Amino acid sequence: MNILLLGSGGRECAIAWKLAQSPECSRLFIAPGNAGSRAYGTNVSLPLTDFGAIKAFCLAEEIGLLFPGGEDTLVAGIWDFFKNDPELQHIIVAGPSKDGAQLEGSKAFSKKFMQRHDIPTAAYHEFDESNFEEGLVYLEQHTTPIVLKADGLAAGKGVVITSDIEEAKSVFAAMIKESRFGDAGKKVVVEQFLTGVEVSVFALSDGRNYVLLPEAKDYKRVGEGDTGPNTGGMGAVSPVPFAQGAFMEKVEERIVKPTVAGLAAEGIVYQGFIFFGLINVDGEPFVIEYNCRMGDPETEVVMPRLENDLVALIRDMDAGRLHEVTVQHSDKAACTVMLVSQGYPDDYAKGKVMSGLETTEGSLLFHAGTTLKEEEVLTSGGRVLAITSYGAGLKEALAQSYLNAEKINFEGKQYRRDIGYEF
Ligand code: AMP
Ligand code: GLY
Repeated sequence: MNILLLGSGGRECAIAWKLAQSPECSRLFIAPGNAGSRAYGTNVSLPLTDFGAIKAFCLAEEIGLLFPGGEDTLVAGIWDFFKNDPELQHIIVAGPSKDGAQLEGSKAFSKKFMQRHDIPTAAYHEFDESNFEEGLVYLEQHTTPIVLKADGLAAGKGVVITSDIEEAKSVFAAMIKESRFGDAGKKVVVEQFLTGVEVSVFALSDGRNYVLLPEAKDYKRVGEGDTGPNTGGMGAVSPVPFAQGAFMEKVEERIVKPTVAGLAAEGIVYQGFIFFGLINVDGEPFVIEYNCRMGDPETEVVMPRLENDLVALIRDMDAGRLHEVTVQHSDKAACTVMLVSQGYPDDYAKGKVMSGLETTEGSLLFHAGTTLKEEEVLTSGGRVLAITSYGAGLKEALAQSYLNAEKINFEGKQYRRDIGYEF
Protein backbone atom coordinates (compact mmCIF):
# COMPACT_ATOMS: atom_id res chain seq x y z
CA MET A 1 0.00 0.00 0.00
CA ASN A 2 1.06 3.59 -0.50
CA ILE A 3 1.84 5.56 2.64
CA LEU A 4 2.00 9.26 3.44
CA LEU A 5 4.01 10.18 6.54
CA LEU A 6 3.70 13.72 7.87
CA GLY A 7 6.67 15.45 9.51
CA SER A 8 10.33 16.31 9.13
CA GLY A 9 12.13 15.31 12.32
CA GLY A 10 14.35 12.50 13.49
CA ARG A 11 11.18 10.73 14.59
CA GLU A 12 9.77 10.74 11.07
CA CYS A 13 13.11 9.64 9.63
CA ALA A 14 13.11 6.62 11.98
CA ILE A 15 9.47 5.84 11.18
CA ALA A 16 10.22 6.10 7.46
CA TRP A 17 13.17 3.72 7.89
CA LYS A 18 10.87 1.23 9.62
CA LEU A 19 7.91 1.56 7.24
CA ALA A 20 10.16 1.14 4.21
CA GLN A 21 11.25 -2.30 5.48
CA SER A 22 7.69 -3.63 5.29
CA PRO A 23 6.85 -5.88 2.33
CA GLU A 24 3.42 -4.21 2.46
CA CYS A 25 4.86 -0.76 1.81
CA SER A 26 4.68 0.05 -1.90
CA ARG A 27 5.37 3.76 -2.20
CA LEU A 28 6.31 5.89 0.80
CA PHE A 29 5.97 9.67 0.74
CA ILE A 30 7.22 11.95 3.49
CA ALA A 31 5.88 15.48 3.78
CA PRO A 32 8.07 17.42 3.98
CA GLY A 33 10.78 15.02 5.16
CA ASN A 34 14.47 15.98 5.31
CA ALA A 35 17.81 15.15 3.69
CA GLY A 36 17.81 11.72 5.37
CA SER A 37 14.24 10.57 4.75
CA ARG A 38 14.69 10.52 0.99
CA ALA A 39 16.74 7.34 1.45
CA TYR A 40 13.47 5.59 2.41
CA GLY A 41 10.88 7.29 0.25
CA THR A 42 9.98 10.40 -1.70
CA ASN A 43 9.94 13.76 0.04
CA VAL A 44 6.99 15.91 -0.97
CA SER A 45 6.22 19.50 -0.21
CA LEU A 46 2.75 19.77 1.35
CA PRO A 47 1.53 22.39 3.80
CA LEU A 48 0.53 20.34 6.86
CA THR A 49 -2.06 22.88 7.92
CA ASP A 50 -3.87 22.55 4.58
CA PHE A 51 -5.99 19.41 4.91
CA GLY A 52 -7.47 20.06 1.46
CA ALA A 53 -4.00 19.79 -0.08
CA ILE A 54 -3.32 16.60 1.90
CA LYS A 55 -6.62 15.19 0.61
CA ALA A 56 -5.76 15.98 -3.00
CA PHE A 57 -2.37 14.31 -2.63
CA CYS A 58 -3.84 11.20 -0.99
CA LEU A 59 -6.36 10.78 -3.81
CA ALA A 60 -3.81 11.41 -6.55
CA GLU A 61 -1.28 8.94 -5.11
CA GLU A 62 -3.82 6.36 -3.92
CA ILE A 63 -2.62 6.54 -0.34
CA GLY A 64 -3.83 3.71 1.91
CA LEU A 65 -2.21 4.83 5.17
CA LEU A 66 -1.77 8.32 6.57
CA PHE A 67 0.77 8.49 9.37
CA PRO A 68 0.83 11.85 11.19
CA GLY A 69 4.21 11.97 12.97
CA GLY A 70 3.57 14.95 15.22
CA GLU A 71 0.73 16.20 17.37
CA ASP A 72 -0.26 19.36 15.49
CA THR A 73 -2.29 17.75 12.70
CA LEU A 74 -3.89 15.30 15.14
CA VAL A 75 -4.92 18.01 17.59
CA ALA A 76 -6.23 20.00 14.61
CA GLY A 77 -8.49 17.03 13.74
CA ILE A 78 -6.96 15.32 10.71
CA TRP A 79 -8.53 11.99 11.75
CA ASP A 80 -12.02 13.56 11.80
CA PHE A 81 -11.35 15.27 8.47
CA PHE A 82 -10.52 11.91 6.87
CA LYS A 83 -13.24 9.85 8.51
CA ASN A 84 -15.99 12.38 7.71
CA ASP A 85 -15.09 12.52 4.02
CA PRO A 86 -16.56 9.71 1.86
CA GLU A 87 -13.58 9.92 -0.50
CA LEU A 88 -11.03 9.52 2.31
CA GLN A 89 -12.83 7.27 4.81
CA HIS A 90 -11.13 4.11 3.57
CA ILE A 91 -7.66 5.46 4.35
CA ILE A 92 -6.14 4.21 7.61
CA VAL A 93 -5.09 7.08 9.87
CA ALA A 94 -2.48 6.01 12.42
CA GLY A 95 -3.55 8.39 15.14
CA PRO A 96 -6.48 9.37 17.33
CA SER A 97 -9.56 11.47 16.67
CA LYS A 98 -9.52 15.13 17.63
CA ASP A 99 -11.20 14.26 20.94
CA GLY A 100 -8.59 11.59 21.65
CA ALA A 101 -5.75 13.98 20.79
CA GLN A 102 -6.97 16.18 23.64
CA LEU A 103 -4.96 13.89 25.92
CA GLU A 104 -2.02 15.92 24.63
CA GLY A 105 -3.81 19.03 23.36
CA SER A 106 -5.13 20.07 26.75
CA LYS A 107 -3.40 19.51 30.08
CA ALA A 108 -6.67 20.37 31.85
CA PHE A 109 -8.50 17.70 29.81
CA SER A 110 -5.86 15.07 30.52
CA LYS A 111 -5.76 15.84 34.25
CA LYS A 112 -9.55 15.55 34.52
CA PHE A 113 -9.47 12.35 32.46
CA MET A 114 -6.92 10.83 34.84
CA GLN A 115 -9.01 11.89 37.82
CA ARG A 116 -12.15 10.32 36.36
CA HIS A 117 -10.35 7.04 35.79
CA ASP A 118 -8.27 6.98 38.95
CA ILE A 119 -4.97 7.07 37.08
CA PRO A 120 -2.03 8.11 39.29
CA THR A 121 -0.78 11.63 38.53
CA ALA A 122 0.41 14.69 40.47
CA ALA A 123 -2.28 16.54 42.46
CA TYR A 124 -3.28 19.76 40.70
CA HIS A 125 -5.51 22.81 40.41
CA GLU A 126 -6.68 24.57 37.29
CA PHE A 127 -6.86 28.37 36.90
CA ASP A 128 -7.85 30.92 34.28
CA GLU A 129 -9.00 34.53 34.14
CA SER A 130 -12.12 33.71 36.20
CA ASN A 131 -10.20 32.50 39.29
CA PHE A 132 -6.93 34.35 38.74
CA GLU A 133 -6.83 36.01 42.21
CA GLU A 134 -7.58 32.68 43.86
CA GLY A 135 -4.63 31.26 41.90
CA LEU A 136 -2.23 33.85 43.32
CA VAL A 137 -3.31 32.95 46.87
CA TYR A 138 -3.00 29.26 46.02
CA LEU A 139 0.57 29.77 44.79
CA GLU A 140 1.54 31.61 48.01
CA GLN A 141 0.54 28.57 50.03
CA HIS A 142 2.01 26.00 47.65
CA THR A 143 4.95 23.82 48.62
CA THR A 144 7.99 24.27 46.37
CA PRO A 145 9.04 23.51 43.72
CA ILE A 146 5.90 24.63 41.92
CA VAL A 147 5.03 23.21 38.50
CA LEU A 148 3.07 25.52 36.15
CA LYS A 149 1.74 24.14 32.87
CA ALA A 150 0.11 26.03 30.02
CA ASP A 151 -3.06 24.14 29.10
CA GLY A 152 -2.56 23.87 25.32
CA LEU A 153 0.17 22.92 22.87
CA ALA A 154 3.29 25.00 23.44
CA ALA A 155 5.93 23.05 21.51
CA GLY A 156 7.44 21.61 24.69
CA LYS A 157 7.95 25.05 26.22
CA GLY A 158 4.74 25.36 28.26
CA VAL A 159 6.06 23.94 31.55
CA VAL A 160 7.79 26.12 34.13
CA ILE A 161 9.19 24.65 37.34
CA THR A 162 10.41 27.05 40.03
CA SER A 163 11.12 27.14 43.76
CA ASP A 164 10.68 30.90 43.85
CA ILE A 165 7.06 31.77 44.70
CA GLU A 166 7.40 35.33 43.34
CA GLU A 167 8.67 33.96 40.03
CA ALA A 168 5.82 31.44 39.97
CA LYS A 169 3.33 34.29 40.45
CA SER A 170 4.86 36.37 37.70
CA VAL A 171 4.93 33.43 35.24
CA PHE A 172 1.35 32.64 36.20
CA ALA A 173 0.31 36.24 35.54
CA ALA A 174 2.25 36.33 32.25
CA MET A 175 0.51 33.16 31.09
CA ILE A 176 -3.02 34.25 31.93
CA LYS A 177 -2.94 38.04 31.62
CA GLU A 178 -0.32 38.59 28.93
CA SER A 179 -0.89 35.42 26.90
CA ARG A 180 2.78 34.48 27.19
CA PHE A 181 2.04 31.13 25.52
CA GLY A 182 -0.73 32.49 23.34
CA ASP A 183 -4.11 30.87 23.82
CA ALA A 184 -2.35 27.72 25.05
CA GLY A 185 -1.53 29.49 28.33
CA LYS A 186 -4.83 31.19 29.05
CA LYS A 187 -5.64 28.24 31.25
CA VAL A 188 -2.94 27.05 33.66
CA VAL A 189 -2.54 23.80 35.54
CA VAL A 190 -0.57 24.14 38.80
CA GLU A 191 0.67 20.81 40.04
CA GLN A 192 2.56 19.07 42.76
CA PHE A 193 6.23 18.41 41.99
CA LEU A 194 7.11 14.73 41.79
CA THR A 195 10.64 13.47 42.39
CA GLY A 196 11.87 10.45 40.50
CA VAL A 197 13.30 9.14 37.24
CA GLU A 198 11.26 9.59 34.06
CA VAL A 199 10.51 6.93 31.48
CA SER A 200 8.54 7.05 28.23
CA VAL A 201 6.18 4.14 27.63
CA PHE A 202 4.46 3.65 24.27
CA ALA A 203 1.28 1.78 23.48
CA LEU A 204 -0.42 1.24 20.16
CA SER A 205 -4.16 1.05 20.81
CA ASP A 206 -6.92 -0.23 18.52
CA GLY A 207 -9.56 1.36 20.73
CA ARG A 208 -10.06 -1.70 22.92
CA ASN A 209 -6.79 -3.62 22.98
CA TYR A 210 -3.23 -2.42 22.99
CA VAL A 211 0.33 -3.60 22.55
CA LEU A 212 3.36 -2.10 24.26
CA LEU A 213 6.34 -1.02 22.21
CA PRO A 214 9.85 -0.87 23.70
CA GLU A 215 10.14 1.77 26.42
CA ALA A 216 12.75 4.53 26.35
CA LYS A 217 14.35 7.24 28.40
CA ASP A 218 14.79 10.67 26.92
CA TYR A 219 17.41 13.24 28.04
CA LYS A 220 15.61 16.57 27.87
CA ARG A 221 18.05 19.07 29.33
CA VAL A 222 20.60 20.63 27.02
CA GLY A 223 23.53 20.21 29.40
CA GLU A 224 25.46 17.28 30.79
CA GLY A 225 24.32 16.07 34.20
CA ASP A 226 20.76 17.14 33.27
CA THR A 227 21.48 20.86 33.55
CA GLY A 228 20.36 23.90 31.56
CA PRO A 229 17.11 24.50 29.74
CA ASN A 230 14.74 21.86 28.44
CA THR A 231 15.08 20.88 24.78
CA GLY A 232 13.08 18.61 22.51
CA GLY A 233 15.46 15.85 23.62
CA MET A 234 19.23 15.37 23.38
CA GLY A 235 19.33 11.58 23.26
CA ALA A 236 17.55 8.44 24.34
CA VAL A 237 18.18 4.89 25.46
CA SER A 238 16.16 1.67 25.38
CA PRO A 239 15.63 -0.54 27.32
CA VAL A 240 15.32 1.37 30.59
CA PRO A 241 16.70 -0.94 33.27
CA PHE A 242 14.13 -0.13 35.98
CA ALA A 243 11.14 -0.37 33.64
CA GLN A 244 10.75 -4.12 33.93
CA GLY A 245 8.87 -6.70 36.01
CA ALA A 246 6.80 -5.39 38.92
CA PHE A 247 7.15 -1.73 37.86
CA MET A 248 5.81 -2.44 34.36
CA GLU A 249 2.97 -4.53 35.80
CA LYS A 250 1.92 -1.47 37.80
CA VAL A 251 2.24 0.68 34.68
CA GLU A 252 -0.07 -1.62 32.74
CA GLU A 253 -2.63 -2.23 35.50
CA ARG A 254 -2.84 1.31 36.88
CA ILE A 255 -2.13 3.41 33.83
CA VAL A 256 -2.24 1.76 30.39
CA LYS A 257 -5.35 -0.39 30.85
CA PRO A 258 -7.45 2.31 32.57
CA THR A 259 -6.41 4.82 29.87
CA VAL A 260 -7.46 2.59 26.96
CA ALA A 261 -10.64 1.48 28.79
CA GLY A 262 -11.42 5.06 29.88
CA LEU A 263 -11.21 6.38 26.32
CA ALA A 264 -13.49 3.57 25.09
CA ALA A 265 -15.97 4.10 27.95
CA GLU A 266 -16.19 7.80 27.08
CA GLY A 267 -16.83 7.02 23.42
CA ILE A 268 -13.57 8.64 22.31
CA VAL A 269 -12.17 6.99 19.16
CA TYR A 270 -8.50 6.27 19.66
CA GLN A 271 -6.66 4.09 17.18
CA GLY A 272 -3.08 5.17 17.40
CA PHE A 273 -0.04 5.64 19.60
CA ILE A 274 -0.33 6.69 23.22
CA PHE A 275 2.86 8.07 24.73
CA PHE A 276 2.84 7.85 28.51
CA GLY A 277 5.38 10.26 30.02
CA LEU A 278 5.86 8.60 33.41
CA ILE A 279 7.88 9.22 36.53
CA ASN A 280 9.02 6.49 38.89
CA VAL A 281 8.48 7.75 42.44
CA ASP A 282 10.02 5.13 44.74
CA GLY A 283 8.81 2.28 42.55
CA GLU A 284 5.35 3.78 41.93
CA PRO A 285 4.54 5.07 38.43
CA PHE A 286 2.77 8.42 37.96
CA VAL A 287 1.74 10.09 34.70
CA ILE A 288 3.53 13.38 34.01
CA GLU A 289 1.92 13.79 30.60
CA TYR A 290 0.22 12.03 27.75
CA ASN A 291 1.15 12.57 24.12
CA CYS A 292 -0.99 11.43 21.20
CA ARG A 293 1.97 10.41 19.00
CA MET A 294 5.41 8.84 19.30
CA GLY A 295 8.25 10.68 21.08
CA ASP A 296 11.26 12.34 19.55
CA PRO A 297 14.08 11.23 20.10
CA GLU A 298 12.54 8.11 21.70
CA THR A 299 11.31 6.83 18.32
CA GLU A 300 14.91 6.74 17.13
CA VAL A 301 15.54 3.90 19.64
CA VAL A 302 12.04 2.39 19.81
CA MET A 303 11.74 1.65 16.06
CA PRO A 304 15.16 -0.03 15.93
CA ARG A 305 14.15 -2.31 18.84
CA LEU A 306 10.71 -3.16 17.44
CA GLU A 307 10.99 -6.43 15.54
CA ASN A 308 7.44 -6.55 14.17
CA ASP A 309 6.49 -5.20 10.78
CA LEU A 310 5.11 -1.72 11.53
CA VAL A 311 2.68 -1.69 8.59
CA ALA A 312 1.26 -5.06 9.68
CA LEU A 313 0.87 -3.74 13.24
CA ILE A 314 -1.02 -0.71 11.98
CA ARG A 315 -3.27 -2.92 9.85
CA ASP A 316 -4.02 -5.01 12.95
CA MET A 317 -4.76 -1.79 14.84
CA ASP A 318 -7.18 -0.72 12.14
CA ALA A 319 -8.89 -4.12 12.19
CA GLY A 320 -9.22 -4.05 16.01
CA ARG A 321 -7.23 -7.24 16.48
CA LEU A 322 -4.23 -6.15 18.51
CA HIS A 323 -5.22 -8.72 21.18
CA GLU A 324 -4.03 -11.37 18.69
CA VAL A 325 -0.64 -9.74 18.21
CA THR A 326 2.60 -10.35 20.08
CA VAL A 327 5.13 -7.57 19.90
CA GLN A 328 8.77 -8.64 19.80
CA HIS A 329 11.30 -6.30 21.38
CA SER A 330 14.90 -6.83 20.33
CA ASP A 331 17.24 -8.26 22.98
CA LYS A 332 19.77 -5.68 21.89
CA ALA A 333 20.04 -2.28 23.51
CA ALA A 334 19.75 0.87 21.42
CA CYS A 335 20.78 4.44 22.08
CA THR A 336 20.62 7.65 20.15
CA VAL A 337 22.80 10.74 20.52
CA MET A 338 21.46 13.97 19.06
CA LEU A 339 23.78 16.44 17.36
CA VAL A 340 22.38 19.94 17.77
CA SER A 341 23.16 23.41 16.51
CA GLN A 342 25.07 25.97 18.53
CA GLY A 343 22.67 28.02 20.64
CA TYR A 344 19.88 25.44 20.68
CA PRO A 345 17.30 25.45 22.36
CA ASP A 346 17.41 29.25 22.03
CA ASP A 347 18.26 30.97 18.76
CA TYR A 348 20.62 28.90 16.68
CA ALA A 349 22.48 29.11 13.40
CA LYS A 350 21.23 27.27 10.29
CA GLY A 351 22.60 26.49 6.84
CA LYS A 352 25.90 24.98 8.07
CA VAL A 353 27.50 22.49 5.71
CA MET A 354 27.65 18.97 7.13
CA SER A 355 30.57 16.65 6.42
CA GLY A 356 31.68 13.17 7.34
CA LEU A 357 28.25 11.55 7.10
CA GLU A 358 29.54 8.91 4.69
CA THR A 359 32.53 8.09 6.92
CA THR A 360 30.44 6.71 9.78
CA GLU A 361 30.10 3.00 10.40
CA GLY A 362 27.85 0.80 12.49
CA SER A 363 25.19 3.42 13.29
CA LEU A 364 21.87 4.47 11.81
CA LEU A 365 21.81 8.16 10.99
CA PHE A 366 18.32 9.56 11.45
CA HIS A 367 18.32 13.08 10.09
CA ALA A 368 16.30 15.73 11.93
CA GLY A 369 17.01 19.35 10.98
CA THR A 370 18.80 18.81 7.67
CA THR A 371 18.14 19.89 4.13
CA LEU A 372 19.70 19.27 0.79
CA LYS A 373 21.12 22.01 -1.40
CA GLU A 374 22.75 20.97 -4.63
CA GLU A 375 23.84 17.62 -3.17
CA GLU A 376 25.26 19.27 -0.04
CA VAL A 377 23.62 18.46 3.29
CA LEU A 378 23.00 21.60 5.33
CA THR A 379 21.72 22.03 8.87
CA SER A 380 18.23 23.47 9.00
CA GLY A 381 17.09 23.01 12.59
CA GLY A 382 18.10 23.01 16.24
CA ARG A 383 18.19 19.24 16.47
CA VAL A 384 20.20 18.16 13.45
CA LEU A 385 20.94 14.45 13.48
CA ALA A 386 20.18 11.44 15.69
CA ILE A 387 22.97 8.87 15.73
CA THR A 388 21.45 5.54 16.73
CA SER A 389 23.44 2.42 17.55
CA TYR A 390 22.75 -1.07 18.80
CA GLY A 391 24.84 -2.92 21.34
CA ALA A 392 24.73 -6.01 23.51
CA GLY A 393 24.24 -3.47 26.30
CA LEU A 394 23.79 0.29 26.49
CA LYS A 395 27.49 0.99 27.05
CA GLU A 396 28.44 -0.74 23.82
CA ALA A 397 25.68 1.04 21.90
CA LEU A 398 26.71 4.43 23.31
CA ALA A 399 30.38 3.90 22.49
CA GLN A 400 29.44 3.34 18.84
CA SER A 401 27.27 6.47 18.63
CA TYR A 402 29.96 8.59 20.26
CA LEU A 403 32.59 7.27 17.84
CA ASN A 404 30.44 8.42 14.92
CA ALA A 405 29.48 11.71 16.60
CA GLU A 406 33.15 12.65 16.29
CA LYS A 407 33.27 11.85 12.58
CA ILE A 408 30.40 14.11 11.57
CA ASN A 409 31.09 17.79 11.49
CA PHE A 410 29.35 21.10 11.04
CA GLU A 411 30.17 24.49 12.48
CA GLY A 412 28.86 24.79 16.03
CA LYS A 413 28.14 21.06 16.49
CA GLN A 414 27.04 20.29 20.06
CA TYR A 415 26.02 17.10 21.82
CA ARG A 416 25.73 15.66 25.29
CA ARG A 417 28.52 13.24 26.12
CA ASP A 418 26.67 11.63 29.02
CA ILE A 419 23.56 10.05 27.49
CA GLY A 420 22.67 6.94 29.51
CA TYR A 421 24.99 8.02 32.33
CA GLU A 422 22.88 6.49 35.11
CA PHE A 423 22.77 3.02 33.65
P1 AMP B 1 5.63 17.98 30.20
O1 AMP B 1 5.61 18.93 29.04
O2 AMP B 1 4.34 17.88 30.94
O3 AMP B 1 6.22 16.65 29.84
O4 AMP B 1 6.71 18.54 31.21
C1 AMP B 1 8.05 18.78 30.81
C2 AMP B 1 8.99 18.26 31.85
O5 AMP B 1 8.77 18.93 33.10
C3 AMP B 1 8.79 16.79 32.17
O6 AMP B 1 9.45 15.95 31.31
C4 AMP B 1 9.36 16.71 33.56
O7 AMP B 1 10.77 16.65 33.53
C5 AMP B 1 8.97 18.03 34.17
N1 AMP B 1 7.72 17.90 34.93
C6 AMP B 1 6.48 18.09 34.49
N2 AMP B 1 5.57 17.89 35.45
C7 AMP B 1 6.27 17.57 36.56
C8 AMP B 1 5.90 17.25 37.91
N3 AMP B 1 4.63 17.24 38.32
N4 AMP B 1 6.88 16.98 38.78
C9 AMP B 1 8.18 16.98 38.37
N5 AMP B 1 8.59 17.29 37.15
C10 AMP B 1 7.65 17.57 36.24
N1 GLY C 1 10.75 13.39 23.81
C1 GLY C 1 9.56 13.98 24.31
C2 GLY C 1 8.51 14.23 23.31
O1 GLY C 1 8.55 13.75 22.20
O2 GLY C 1 7.56 14.89 23.66
